[in-house]
Amino acid sequence: MPPERTAEAALRPRRLEEFVGQQVVRDQLSLVLDAAAARGRAPEHMLLSGPPGLGKTTLAMIIAAELSAPLRITSGPAIQHAGDLAAILSSLDEGEVLFIDEIHRLARPAEEMLYIAMEDFRVDVVVGKGVGATSIPLDLPPFTVVGATTRAGLLPAPLRDRFGFIGHLDFYGAEELREVVRRSAVRLEVELEDRAAIEIASRSRGTPRIANRLLRRVRDWAQVRGSGALDLGAAKEALRVYEVDDRGLDRLDRAVLSALCGRFAGGPVGLSTLAVAVGEETETVETMIEPYLVREGFLLRTPRGRAAAPAAWEHLGLEPPAGAEGTPPMLGRF
Ligand SMILES: Nc1ncnc2c1ncn2[C@@H]1O[C@H](COP(=O)(O)OP(=O)(O)OP(=O)(O)O)[C@@H](O)[C@H]1O
Ligand SMILES: [Mg+2]
Repeated sequence: MPPERTAEAALRPRRLEEFVGQQVVRDQLSLVLDAAAARGRAPEHMLLSGPPGLGKTTLAMIIAAELSAPLRITSGPAIQHAGDLAAILSSLDEGEVLFIDEIHRLARPAEEMLYIAMEDFRVDVVVGKGVGATSIPLDLPPFTVVGATTRAGLLPAPLRDRFGFIGHLDFYGAEELREVVRRSAVRLEVELEDRAAIEIASRSRGTPRIANRLLRRVRDWAQVRGSGALDLGAAKEALRVYEVDDRGLDRLDRAVLSALCGRFAGGPVGLSTLAVAVGEETETVETMIEPYLVREGFLLRTPRGRAAAPAAWEHLGLEPPAGAEGTPPMLGRF
């Protein structure tokens, strides 16, 4: 595991009650888990969707922990062939939780095998090769699939329909993130001044992963260049060094807005053109950058492409050209 991932894993809440925020999903989930426990059965399959870093993997681990069930972890891209999935499915123990990350990236044959396994608890194992090959149906013990996806829209309806519970994670509020960093500071055994916690929380793009990462960078700054204290001054300086601005936007966020307002004169411009302009993959821009910019009112998704909202021009200190896409008179069109 790369060091950042290890650091992240150390800060993961282990139980539902330690999981900060996402009140709605947490309530729904605890109901599903309690009901299953009361019936003494494996709960229905669950799907978690939402932008990166909001807690999907964390919740999947919590689900297994709350069920006191073993957890098997795999991901869509890791399953190249249906046979890979058959091998996993046929070795599952009763009640096991199978976590499939990036489930929208499963190959089609594996996806079809998964439908059947999820619904009928059966998998067809192919034995032999070529004309002599036969498929043997194998019954599976009850188990629970927990799927995670940053792109729920890409999941085919038949797969989506086989989940008894779909939880949508949304960006966290500043209060919740303050609580996240406060708890992380305790785990890291550092003293964090409350004003520093507030500063970090408000600049974390609504994302616990980013809040924890910024906390570690503030700690670095405090140890190396500061007095060791994680106070407001250290937070501000560290965030300046790491080019996180007062709205929490990082270099890449600003690159997208600059391209949009500069090169494309406010848009609308196609997503892939915009991605090429900032040297990123389309998927990165769509899943990691765009959702927060949309939610904060910097960027508009229009039928003809992405456009800069007035707040984008303002944030970059630019004057929107008269009649630019997204300036107030045209907003009503979308
Ligand atoms: N509700 C929460 N409370 C406290 N910490 C959280 C919470 N949600 C996430 N975190 C922290 O954020 C980190 C990232 O969360 P996680 O890995 O679960 O995100 P993810 O949704 O799976 O992201 P990705 O889509 O990139 O896989 C975790 O290591 C954890 O420390
Ligand atoms: Mg994850």
